[in-house]
Amino acid sequence: MPTSSELFAEATIGSIYFSPEEMPDPSETVLKFQDGLRSCMHEKPPAVIDFPILADLAARSEKTLTRSCGELISYRVDRSVANRLYTSSSDIAQELVTLPDLLISRTSIAETSAHKVFFAVLTDGDTKLRIAVKPFEQEPEKAITEWANTLLARSRGFQAFAPIGFLIHEGVGYAITKRQDDIEPMDNAEWSAALFDPETHGAMLNDLLKVGPALARAQAKDCFHGDPQLKNIVINQDGTVHFIDWESAIFLKDSKAIWSATDGTVDHVTNNTAKDLKVLFGSLARSVKDKGVGFLDNLTPQAQWSYFRELIVTPYLEEHLELAEQSRSANIDSVMARLGLVEQEIYSYIINGEIYESLARMRQRVA
Ligand SMILES: Nc1ncnc2c1ncn2[C@@H]1O[C@H](COP(=O)(O)OP(=O)(O)O)[C@@H](O)[C@H]1O
Ligand SMILES: [Mg+2]
Repeated sequence: MPTSSELFAEATIGSIYFSPEEMPDPSETVLKFQDGLRSCMHEKPPAVIDFPILADLAARSEKTLTRSCGELISYRVDRSVANRLYTSSSDIAQELVTLPDLLISRTSIAETSAHKVFFAVLTDGDTKLRIAVKPFEQEPEKAITEWANTLLARSRGFQAFAPIGFLIHEGVGYAITKRQDDIEPMDNAEWSAALFDPETHGAMLNDLLKVGPALARAQAKDCFHGDPQLKNIVINQDGTVHFIDWESAIFLKDSKAIWSATDGTVDHVTNNTAKDLKVLFGSLARSVKDKGVGFLDNLTPQAQWSYFRELIVTPYLEEHLELAEQSRSANIDSVMARLGLVEQEIYSYIINGEIYESLARMRQRVA
């Protein structure tokens, strides 16, 4: 006999949901979340933060938008009753109040989720809201950064997961988004064989060519993703490429920083810009064992640079220049100068094998 909640098997995606008590082996994290959500909803209805107003206020600060949004929200979070769910719309707040039960999906998430994201539904037995829960156990406040960055990303036109809210309970933060099905994380493919047999892997290489331009489009809107590894990039059903996992992103005020003048030295804009490319390179170059996808593993630095330039850097630079040409505020000479610095930086990074030095340092720390 199936239990009541097993009847929530979803025909469309084949997920089966359990109440946490009925789960064969519920994780501590899931049980803590259930406890947190219950006590939040029991104490007070969700609080609504008017994010556009908050972001306007945050833009008056000299700090990055990400930082000052985070600080303003953190200030708003009632520490005496930290048990409260915060959301960005009264519609969501009202809906959440009507969905008292939490059921957890048995479908486990890819091992690549450092935060052990899990899927669940909020339900009244009838209506179901399918959610993804991202716990922040080490740094609970990062749930706020993730939530704020997700809202900033959407306000700049990026396809981030629809935010539901965040809560902080007993030292753990949780960022909750609406679960989305029609996406494929880019690390879910056999990248290590792709260069040996490019004919068979044509579609994958074609997808990879979309990543550089996506990065350029984000940066041209003053967003530095911070962690654009392949596992944090997804392909939608329409074949377009998008970023997920916004916790490390930095949003600047809408000032087109990447197009600002440079005095020829590497400043923080150039650094953030180059860092995105380095992280992307790292995820392509590291072996699967080292949490990469192994695409550029076992090649000489010269060969790595040659492939990375062809598949990522050139399409990336072309997109940047095209965007600059379309923009009235861009000074093409400044853009070229800054991108020249970025290219030089990433070229040295690859040719000098810096990624392997940092891997060796990491191994030493672990040993
Ligand atoms: N709203 C969502 N809908 C569908 N899948 C999601 C959602 N949120 C997270 N995921 C899945 O969980 C994985 C981990 O999420 P991510 O934000 O990258 O956290 P982590 O820091 O653990 O990597 C993603 O690769 C994605 O597959
Ligand atoms: Mg991730």
